[in-house]
Amino acid sequence: MLKVITVFGTRPEAIKMAPLVKELAKHRDGIDCKVAVTAQHREMLDQVLELFEIAPDYDLDIMRRQQSLFDITSRALTGLQEVFQKEKPDLVLVHGDTTTTFVAALAAYYLQIPVGHVEAGLRTRDKFSPFPEEINRHLTGVLADLHFAPTANAKQNLLSEGVSGESIYVTGNTVIDALLATVRPDYVFADQVLSRIDYGSRRVLLVTTHRRENLGEPMREIYRALREVTESYDDVEVIFPVHKNPLVRSVVEEELGGQNRIHLIEPLDYQPFANLINCSYLVLSDSGGLQEEAPALGKPVLVLRNTTERPEAVDAGTVRLVGTGREAVASETRRLLEEHEYYGKMANAVNPYGDGLASKRIVQAIKHKFGISKEPMQEFCPS
Ligand code: UD1
Ligand code: UDP
Repeated sequence: MLKVITVFGTRPEAIKMAPLVKELAKHRDGIDCKVAVTAQHREMLDQVLELFEIAPDYDLDIMRRQQSLFDITSRALTGLQEVFQKEKPDLVLVHGDTTTTFVAALAAYYLQIPVGHVEAGLRTRDKFSPFPEEINRHLTGVLADLHFAPTANAKQNLLSEGVSGESIYVTGNTVIDALLATVRPDYVFADQVLSRIDYGSRRVLLVTTHRRENLGEPMREIYRALREVTESYDDVEVIFPVHKNPLVRSVVEEELGGQNRIHLIEPLDYQPFANLINCSYLVLSDSGGLQEEAPALGKPVLVLRNTTERPEAVDAGTVRLVGTGREAVASETRRLLEEHEYYGKMANAVNPYGDGLASKRIVQAIKHKFGISKEPMQEFCPS
């Protein structure tokens, strides 16, 4: 039996690892799969665990209010040392670019355990944007033995850094596996705010913000732009599920609290959230995952950042980088509300990130690599 430990800690890692955990569980004849969560996020992680019915074997429960990078790093490293020493896995699987990701890869390396990196190879080439994710992802790549790159472009990034082609597998992104299993055309919202909106006649702007480099003034600028735009269009409703970070929440409340047609709500469970993307007119976000999900559903995204490690949907014309300046955010949003042809060009369903089979490919690659199966993985090619 091949013993695999999957490690994650935050909401996006959980959403993107859930399909893989489920897929690994289908191969119990050859793979013994355990799940360890750092719980770098608490409530936002638990929402996903509940939805996908994943009961972790280990829960380090490290989250603290306003935790620093040092807090996360040190608590996760010590906790994972114990887990890995006890379980002695043959492979540790990590996802993406969070501090949990990097630390889990480091802990595995210290114990000389092979590491598989899911969502490998994305790069902005800017050390501080996103911070600290760009470097977390890079360092995880340096430590990893198997690189599951979602796209050919991500593979190319790794090759250009000298990573051996034999260790890179182009799989598609598991977020599309999760999305396709979750979005339904006849979905009915249970939430009172969401169920009252007539999505046929109202234009919903779906907003999320959380990036560390946007905390403070950049977020204020974004919110002021939103307020200004919402005031000038009667048919616009802003739905803003506010991240649990108190540094985000205080500024959101100050700038957008008590405004007509701006609905500040708690983070949504993934199921209503994914279905809300599908009902929205436009997405404004500094999230990574939303840049992959919204294009798959044909929804334009204004990215509230100065860089992106996801150029594929920008190239396809569905995603636009607007930064955080008040003027730029307001004018791009107005343009998409007023110019139908312009909106139409951006509202194209494109799927450069996956076809719903990424988890299957990753498991196939692992089985082949460790001699459980003779069949090699077939690479993902966007249609
Ligand atoms: C983290 C990741 C980021 C990822 C994001 C997804 C790092 C350094 N950052 O950023 O890459 O994009 O998650 O959302 O790995 N909090 C709660 N409950 C929760 C979650 C968070 O109260 O369920 C609060 C806590 O006060 C916590 C704070 O939010 O201290 C910040 O959480 P943290 O994980 O440090 O940073 P994020 O900005 O969420
Ligand atoms: N998401 C969610 N509920 C919300 C907001 C986002 O389930 O209220 C999902 C979203 O669909 C995406 C992921 O959370 O899959 C993105 O998480 P986040 O923006 O926190 O992190 P990032 O992707 O930037 O790392």
